[in-house]
Amino acid sequence: MNLLKQCKHVLEQNWKGSFTIPSPRLYPFQWNWDSGFVALGNLHYKPERSIIELESLFKGQWENGFLPHIIFHNEQKYSSYFPSADYWNSSISSYAPKDLKTSGITQPPVHGFVLEKIFENNIDKSRINNLFDKIVKYHNYLYETREYNNTGLVSIWHNWESGMDNSVWWDEILERIDIAKLENIQLFRKDIYEVDESNKTRPLDLDYKRYLFLVKKLLENKYVNVEVNYHFQVLDPVFNSILIESNASLIRIGKLLGNEVPFLQNKMETGIKSFSSILWNNVDFLYYPFDVLSQSQIKKHCSGCYVPIFAGIPSTDQVKELVRHWKNYNDIFLIPSCFPDQIGFEQKNYWRGPVWVNINWMIWKGLLQYEMYELAEQIRNSTINLVEKFGVYEYFNPFIKTDSKTGYGGKNFSWTAALIIDMLRSEKV
Ligand code: GLC
Repeated sequence: MNLLKQCKHVLEQNWKGSFTIPSPRLYPFQWNWDSGFVALGNLHYKPERSIIELESLFKGQWENGFLPHIIFHNEQKYSSYFPSADYWNSSISSYAPKDLKTSGITQPPVHGFVLEKIFENNIDKSRINNLFDKIVKYHNYLYETREYNNTGLVSIWHNWESGMDNSVWWDEILERIDIAKLENIQLFRKDIYEVDESNKTRPLDLDYKRYLFLVKKLLENKYVNVEVNYHFQVLDPVFNSILIESNASLIRIGKLLGNEVPFLQNKMETGIKSFSSILWNNVDFLYYPFDVLSQSQIKKHCSGCYVPIFAGIPSTDQVKELVRHWKNYNDIFLIPSCFPDQIGFEQKNYWRGPVWVNINWMIWKGLLQYEMYELAEQIRNSTINLVEKFGVYEYFNPFIKTDSKTGYGGKNFSWTAALIIDMLRSEKV
């Protein structure tokens, strides 16, 4: 089967009638940013599914605008996920939907720019209008509840909210959690039984306990706020770039729909300025996350340092400085989630080294905007080749010369399939 067919086949198999699961068995429900990426792939051959995908996702939206990272549709059918719907216990919040269980944390807000693509495909205007209002409400929630000191940048409250679950970026922050406090946290992990080499490709139990400790803290506050000294409060350049890119889309759609959003425009402009003053590092020429508690940047070279390119945030000179780093790494597939010379790098472990297609897709799109066509084409080609050679996996070993299998995690992974479809279908420039 050729690659395009394989990818379509994956999306077909993972489609559950009104939403797409990220991968069979390993992730059996609807995940937030996954659905956005999936919708982009479906637009090329089943556009109706793209809008249904977002509509199903927003069924899980809370009354205060918050959009959870997992929506447990058909929950009775699967007892195979941990932490389960009951563990999250979303009904503790009066804002949560009554008829649907969800998690209590969010994920990067991709929906605005996805909606713009759906809009360009001329799908039902009243349904677009409806989704537009919901996405605006979600962004309003982010600024009203998560904005840091009027900077236009919002905080994430859990490493899972970044979508890059065990990135080396979060190591020191998570280590702040006193190990003694983790003793009573029980694990019923399922993920480690669903993948090969789980001891090398998934987070460790101790890390997992830390993640659950944070969930416990958030649950204590019914997921609505955090205490001043709550451990995990980070201005993540990936989350914030995606928010800005989606804002730009909402602003454009709003103009066309006669529904302008000056509040978001204002926050977006402030946010872009804060990228320069808070997240840009003028010595390393990279964007880094900012840890609110220690008031310092987390200086580790990861793929996320480049995602601001997607949102058109850096100047052309800054983009040149950014991509110049890549010249120093000839023996790897770009762009590894952590660069091999960084402390904490692991070539097979999830977000600690492997290449992820969604990040490459965003950086590819960004480079096109800056008219850096050759480099963009290089990223597009190497990403397509990786999937063609090793399969529609969740993540890939970044070393070119490795003999072993280089695809890890979930097999038949939806966003890999969807974004490869988008890359294959894009005109060569
Ligand atoms: C993993 C990824 C996360 C994704 C989820 C479902 O947890 O880290 O970004 O949303 O899987 O695919």
